[in-house]
Amino acid sequence: MTGLEITTAERPREGSMPVLETERLVLRAPRLGDAKTIATLANDRRIAENTARIPHPYKLADAKTWLESVNRADGEQTYVITLSGDVIGACGFEARDDGAPEIGYWLGVAHWGKGYATEAARALIDHAFGDLDFTALQAGARVTNPASRRVLEKCGFQWTGVGLYRIRAISSSAPIDRFRLERGIWASIKSWGAMRRALV
Ligand SMILES: CC(C)(COP(=O)(O)OP(=O)(O)OC[C@H]1O[C@@H](n2cnc3c(N)ncnc32)[C@H](O)[C@@H]1OP(=O)(O)O)[C@@H](O)C(=O)NCCC(=O)NCCS
Repeated sequence: MTGLEITTAERPREGSMPVLETERLVLRAPRLGDAKTIATLANDRRIAENTARIPHPYKLADAKTWLESVNRADGEQTYVITLSGDVIGACGFEARDDGAPEIGYWLGVAHWGKGYATEAARALIDHAFGDLDFTALQAGARVTNPASRRVLEKCGFQWTGVGLYRIRAISSSAPIDRFRLERGIWASIKSWGAMRRALV
């Protein structure tokens, strides 16, 4: 047995993870077979410097380590984002001490600017509130990252303050904006959307 094989008992809990479908995307549990694609997509400084834990450069071994470690902890759900069956990025949420899980996401650079992150984040949020009954979600974005901030705003998140994140790729901490989405705000957005669709 090599170090890369995972026994059934150790295997990430793919079976307990739902598949989330949007108009254009499918979000599913990561698999070890995704390693090469993840390594290629994530090996970009613009991704690493805007996320807390992605190293740069990002090698195949990093992708394998990541794939072996995700979805082990209670309160964590990590998905790969697929488009027509191809992995284009990843997203998910993990538990935080204050009870509001924190969401995160990244996409391969070739896929930026097409609304995919917003579409994936909305699916994640609908799952978190609609299926899992969370009362609030939180998120953080570097102050130099307007695209991520905009994704959060389009999903209904509200700015709550500033903070610092340790960014692995720069071996330093960086200022971030903090955001929060309450379940009630999400419910209002959903019912307003349903009302608008009924009127047109
Ligand atoms: C942040 C990220 C996920 C956005 O992905 P995306 O699919 O391009 O996002 P979307 O297309 O859904 O939305 C991006 C929004 O930001 C806007 N935007 C992009 N660059 C911008 C900029 N420099 N200034 C202001 N707004 C900007 C877009 O116009 C769009 O808003 P709109 O729909 O109102 O026009 C992607 O850039 C990424 O992976 N970045 C690196 C990792 C990262 O930052 N992750 C988030 C960690 S908090």
